[in-house]
Amino acid sequence: MSKLILILAAQILLLTTIASAGDGGDFASTMNPARLHNKEKLTHLRVYWHDIRSGQNPSSIMIQPPIKKYSSTYFGSITMMDNKLTSGVSINSTVVGQAQGFYAGAAQPELGFLMAMTFAFKTGEYNGSTITILGRNTVLSEVREMPVVGGSGIFRLARGHVELRTKLFDKKTGDAIVEYNCFVLHY
Ligand SMILES: *[C@@H]1O[C@H](CO)[C@@H](O)[C@H](O)[C@H]1NC(C)=O
Ligand SMILES: *[C@@H]1O[C@H](CO)[C@@H](O)[C@H](O)[C@H]1NC(C)=O
Repeated sequence: MSKLILILAAQILLLTTIASAGDGGDFASTMNPARLHNKEKLTHLRVYWHDIRSGQNPSSIMIQPPIKKYSSTYFGSITMMDNKLTSGVSINSTVVGQAQGFYAGAAQPELGFLMAMTFAFKTGEYNGSTITILGRNTVLSEVREMPVVGGSGIFRLARGHVELRTKLFDKKTGDAIVEYNCFVLHY
């Protein structure tokens, strides 16, 4: 009996969703939060991302320069990186992983990058696990947010978001230290 009611309720929910699909007014709704697996965990990680472009061993290298017309906003540029992630703001604090991927100038009139990178952790219980981040980074904003789109190992089926705050930017060298607060749901 109760099973039948459940099925009916699910069908009504589905019908309502389909019926309202053409209506631009309420294009999104949150459905059935009870489906959240109760074993799901929320992990918070705070790491510091070191974008070192200067010196003998840069960890971040521009492989495609910006289109000349947009050079001040770096539109069209692509920079590959294998940046250290540390537990403290100093580059000499414990290295907990590497940020591997690229950022590309994706905004014409302002400084805005598309970032696609994997945080590969290599310490303690996180050793060998990864999270993948994909999003928009307007670097001059005080706080930026990007989605965590997946993960591996401990972070299988991960989703979540990261919050970025620039801790240091050296105008002369282009080197930067950015704090990443990562909020990750996973099993
Ligand atoms: C990190 O260590 C190197 C080598 O010992 C040193 O030259 C550098 O100044 C240190 N940097 C910071 C920020 O402590
Ligand atoms: C992490 O795992 C790798 C590969 O299994 C191993 O070589 C390395 O020693 C581990 N590092 C730490 C800090 O546990």
